[in-house]
Amino acid sequence: MSFTADRLLLFGATGDLAQRMLLPSLFALDADGLLAPDLKIIGTARSAMSDSEYRNFARAALEKYLPAERRGRMAEFLNRLAYQTLDATTLEGYDALARKVGTPKHGLAIFLSTAPSLFGPTIKGLQSAGLTGENVRMCLEKPLGTDLESSREINDAVAGAFPESRIFRIDHYLGKETVQNLLALRFANLMFEPLWNAAHIDHVQITVAETVGLEGRVAFYDDAGAIRDMVQNHMLQLLALVAMEPPAHFDATAVRDEKVKVLRALRAVVAGETVTGQYRAGAIGGQAVPGYDEELGRDSGTETFVAIKAHVDNWRWKGVPFYLRTGKRLPRRVTEIVIQFRCVPHSIFAGKGATMQPNRLVIGIQPEENITLSLMAKVPGLDREGIRLRSVPLNIAMPDAFTGAVRRIAYERLLLDLVEGDQTLFVRRDEVEAQWEWVDAIRAGWDAEGLTPKTYTAGSWGPSAAIALAERDGVTWHE
Ligand code: BG6
Repeated sequence: MSFTADRLLLFGATGDLAQRMLLPSLFALDADGLLAPDLKIIGTARSAMSDSEYRNFARAALEKYLPAERRGRMAEFLNRLAYQTLDATTLEGYDALARKVGTPKHGLAIFLSTAPSLFGPTIKGLQSAGLTGENVRMCLEKPLGTDLESSREINDAVAGAFPESRIFRIDHYLGKETVQNLLALRFANLMFEPLWNAAHIDHVQITVAETVGLEGRVAFYDDAGAIRDMVQNHMLQLLALVAMEPPAHFDATAVRDEKVKVLRALRAVVAGETVTGQYRAGAIGGQAVPGYDEELGRDSGTETFVAIKAHVDNWRWKGVPFYLRTGKRLPRRVTEIVIQFRCVPHSIFAGKGATMQPNRLVIGIQPEENITLSLMAKVPGLDREGIRLRSVPLNIAMPDAFTGAVRRIAYERLLLDLVEGDQTLFVRRDEVEAQWEWVDAIRAGWDAEGLTPKTYTAGSWGPSAAIALAERDGVTWHE
């Protein structure tokens, strides 16, 4: 049922995500006139707070996390907020919560940003208070389980109260502008798609490098590790967008149908195709940083870095490796996708001494949003001593190409889509399960081999074995 929600209920309303992302995003949408005037936002969490105390709490979060240029008058936004204290694990408080939510004119959107262990009890509570009706949609923040089995349990619990058409699973990478731009690049231009296959592409690299370490998320991160925290969701979504067939339409069913086919075509990874690492003390940008074991206060077998050589076993991608790597405490923050094309079939310049490099397309997702295509060009001159060719970049910096357009954070887009009911940029159950299936098999392989993370110095690009993983195929990571 299509409706624009006029009530938004935030579980985990005092948590880190609410403070850093959700409240600032909602404020920014409001400031730009994108929220319906009658939209009320009800926060709920365990802490005892009145409406006005929550408004003060929200104001403090906005002052802390909103970039100065996007801060404006807050009073109107804060007036939209209300708060209800709730122990989500017991049924008692849900009737009071329902009273606080009131009767929406059009519909209610619920955002669960709590520990997944609370999802089940919360759904039961919402059901008991009549908050799962046809005009209610449910949005779930990661982590959605720790493996296929636990993710199925969560999905089953949610499916007991909501049909898939009203379930919105967040992967905030899908809210990033350049990630969506990948679809425009592929499907709004004629020139790439005919080359986008094994005949013309040698390999693909996807890097998500972070400079941050544990960031105080001790309990969560040490149980997750890089593969479950980053690969299972964000990186596989990026891979799916790169590798999928053209959907017939830009809509939730068509796009997700194509992504899930790719995820199901991922080949099981075998021993030797993954490398894991864990950082030790080092320096990033001239600043000394402690090792993971020091931050954690004990030894741990959790990987803070992972590199994987993946394959998509279908007609289009047969034989094209997808090298994935992600890690904490790497030298710089960068998310990028590299499409490495093959060499031209024959060099007419070889007799004139010229060497050539194959074309390469680099899609920068963050911190810089840009697309660079390297092309071969002749070095100017009279060529008496032979022809010299050099690779030159054709560079599109998105902020320059679209000056004046507001650069929005991912959650602004996703929250607006949630309120308005567009599922295209949300992850469907079959995708999540295909992602887990592939990741679980890798982790089972690690257990069987007794693989433990190799150490790497903070500020380096991970263990040297990760370099070797690509280099033994003659591939160099793009840096
Ligand atoms: C989250 C992970 O999903 O994504 C974090 O849990 C990670 O560990 C974050 O730091 C990265 O997001 P972004 O948008 O900063 O690249």
